[in-house]
Amino acid sequence: MKDAAPAQIHLRDYTPWPWEVTRTELTFRLDPDATRVTSRLSLRPRPGAAPAPFFLHGEELALLSARIDGIPVSPSVTPEGLTCAVPDGPFTFEAEVEIAPAANTALEGLYMSNGVYATQCEAEGFRRITYYPDRPDVLAPFDVRIESDAPVLLSNGNPGASGPGWAEWHDPWPKPAYLFALVAGDLRAVRDRFTTRSGRAVDLAIWVRPGDEDRCAWALESLKASMRWDEERYGREYDLDIFNIVAVDDFNAGAMENKGLNIFNSALVLASPDTATDSDYERIESVIAHEYFHNWTGNRVTCRDWFQLCLKEGLTVFRDQEFTKDLRSAPVKRIEDASLMRARQFREDGGPLAHPVRPESFVEINNFYTITVYEKGAEVVGMLKRLVGDDAWRRGCDLHFDRHDGQAVTIEDWLSVFEEVTARDLAQFKRWYSQAGTPRVSVSEEWDGTHLTLTFRQSTPPTPGQPEKAPLVIPFAIGLLHPSGAELLPTTVIELTATTETRRFDAAALAAAKGLDTARPVASLNRDFSAPVIVDRPRTTEENAFLLAHDTDPFLRWDAGRDLARAVLCDRATGAAADDGAYLDGLAAVLEDPALDPAFKAQVLALPSEDDIAQTLADRGLPPEPLEIRAAGETQRDRIAARLGDLLARTHDASATPGPYRPDAASAGRRALAGASLALLSRRDGGALARAEFAAAPDMTRSLAALSALLSVGAGAAELAAFEARWRHDRLVMDKWFALQVVRAAPAEAAATARRLIGHPLFTWTTPNRVRSVMGSLAGNAAGFHHPSGAAYDLYTEGLLTLDARNPQTAARLSTAFETWRRYAPDRQAAIRHRLDRIAATPGLSRDLGEMVGRMLG
Ligand code: PHE
Ligand code: ZN
Repeated sequence: MKDAAPAQIHLRDYTPWPWEVTRTELTFRLDPDATRVTSRLSLRPRPGAAPAPFFLHGEELALLSARIDGIPVSPSVTPEGLTCAVPDGPFTFEAEVEIAPAANTALEGLYMSNGVYATQCEAEGFRRITYYPDRPDVLAPFDVRIESDAPVLLSNGNPGASGPGWAEWHDPWPKPAYLFALVAGDLRAVRDRFTTRSGRAVDLAIWVRPGDEDRCAWALESLKASMRWDEERYGREYDLDIFNIVAVDDFNAGAMENKGLNIFNSALVLASPDTATDSDYERIESVIAHEYFHNWTGNRVTCRDWFQLCLKEGLTVFRDQEFTKDLRSAPVKRIEDASLMRARQFREDGGPLAHPVRPESFVEINNFYTITVYEKGAEVVGMLKRLVGDDAWRRGCDLHFDRHDGQAVTIEDWLSVFEEVTARDLAQFKRWYSQAGTPRVSVSEEWDGTHLTLTFRQSTPPTPGQPEKAPLVIPFAIGLLHPSGAELLPTTVIELTATTETRRFDAAALAAAKGLDTARPVASLNRDFSAPVIVDRPRTTEENAFLLAHDTDPFLRWDAGRDLARAVLCDRATGAAADDGAYLDGLAAVLEDPALDPAFKAQVLALPSEDDIAQTLADRGLPPEPLEIRAAGETQRDRIAARLGDLLARTHDASATPGPYRPDAASAGRRALAGASLALLSRRDGGALARAEFAAAPDMTRSLAALSALLSVGAGAAELAAFEARWRHDRLVMDKWFALQVVRAAPAEAAATARRLIGHPLFTWTTPNRVRSVMGSLAGNAAGFHHPSGAAYDLYTEGLLTLDARNPQTAARLSTAFETWRRYAPDRQAAIRHRLDRIAATPGLSRDLGEMVGRMLG
């Protein structure tokens, strides 16, 4: 039986647990259907704790026996856990439970993936393994014994004794249960070694299924680069003798930072030139880094409660972004991150699922592993760094690690170290953590012939539960350009704190200092996307063309080009006359500029996403029509191909990367530009060039680029079949095959394509990657998803319900495809609402999906 209204958990209700766990000892006797877990917790009252009943979390466990100080007891058990009378002083609690990993399709707790035992405990999966205080503020050293005939037996920490059929592990670093991990199975290791700067030798191993050993080299390189980078940039060293990474095929998320034993979705570990694309290589590098960086930001210093999730995730995403900037191109990475914010986080922040970076209540914590907590959380960290400066940033981080090592802390603790280091009051800055919604900064200009006066007005719209918003501290980077293109005012960060702020610039003096005549400058606003805000200062076509050609800030150049494209697409999508002259000229100039990075050119060449156009129209009060948006993009691509065809052909040829595949940023950038050019050129030649490239493709990046170009011009059937025949036995490559067909399907065929693929013998509801490759891709094909037939809505709804019965967490995540429903015209709103109501009324719906649908229906 399911409760009518599952309980909301509130930040304000936090109370510490009245006991401390001084040691956790676990023994696993593994069996697919009946694994026995025995636990022995050494406990003592926390000094000063108020008396409370002794409660341990536990879900879906069969309790076989329990003992306190060795004496059998009979705790009272509910579906959420057990309670028990306990002595006043220190005591031990022992339990034996039975669980069934093979039947666990939710992939939380202990489960099996392709015959391999694996765990996923964040956020609250440990309670499906045994009875425990499953909360991040209870830390303990763990000793683990695994008994199984599987050849490889792994857990956290350093290896202890082992023998045939058993192995012991000891993790000396106190940790919360969510960082526990266990892996057992027939796995092979690819090994390396890293010596930390203080001389500690660390054995590195990546564990994969037999046959995948030749796809681990990139992950290992990325791991060593991450370890070196954290030493150099943050002074942080690794702290165990061994660092293990395991690749599993069935995984709800990307990867997990379990102490000393990271578990990864195999898609984010395995790479070879013929199976992985350049984007896969970049993703693997950054996720390996992300999980490694958690060793300090998350593990050594952890979160007091799950409301503080952004403490580890925002900071760790920020760190992995910095890492990618250092290893690759900083401007291109900034463009990627800003695009992600605008495409997905602004959408979340502007809809029914909006929540603060630090939420104040939840029903199911799994639903708060969001783009807001992660990416906006990282933007907030980036703003903090910008405000305090590089030097204070590093001193503040050092103090944070020093002071809170081994502790479970809060955002207040995190901010207070920066207040100490800088003597600056961060109370107003803290609103970034508590206020949801994307702030708008509207900028107006006044020019008196010598001075330019800029007036900034900030506002944040109401969001669910937050009707009123207070002003934020916004670090707003600007520059001023002379009409000749010369920079008058180099990048300057203005701190906006009041609702309205004014700044006056003596443009005449700035010009004179450079020997230039006095002329009204062009303002370049929110350079480098210095704050995650919407800048409300419509730029004219001329200004955009000027900034695209001249701005010194690469992000803003790209942004100006994007604005030009957006204006043209919005006009086309609403039947207005569209003038793309300046846009096409600007594109041509960028392509022809030999000084520009090919990766940057590829970014400029990409059109804004259909969702971006839909949101832009909705912001103007125009209900978007996805089919019209698709048609606008198609027309625009045809026009780019017609107008710039010869230049694209030259660009394509000049971007060739002969020789063996190398995954570095420069080579990847050239391939990205070649691929973008190829897609456009296919519109002129019906796919002839793409067909030839597919046949001769030397690597997966180019194979997929060619196949994608073919499918977007309605060709490629033979190539799809050839691809399937070649890669049928490779799960990761087949995910790409499934996804591409759905993403590239014509709007009227998208639902039918997805339905056919769900019927494919290789489709399965139990592997999240495969489900996402069809369902996620259907949601990503906006014109197909929102096709007026409603076929995609129906298929998606059925799919969510089918999935929810097996894997609630992934179903809830996928349900966000419906979060934009209120931006559409009434008939489409009604159509979506009808499906959401149907889901909400389904008996036995999970807490995860139930909460999401409830919030979306608002
Ligand atoms: N903590 C993981 C990360 O971001 C993400 C994750 C959350 C994985 C929950 C699985 C389950 O690095
Ligand atoms: Zn993380």
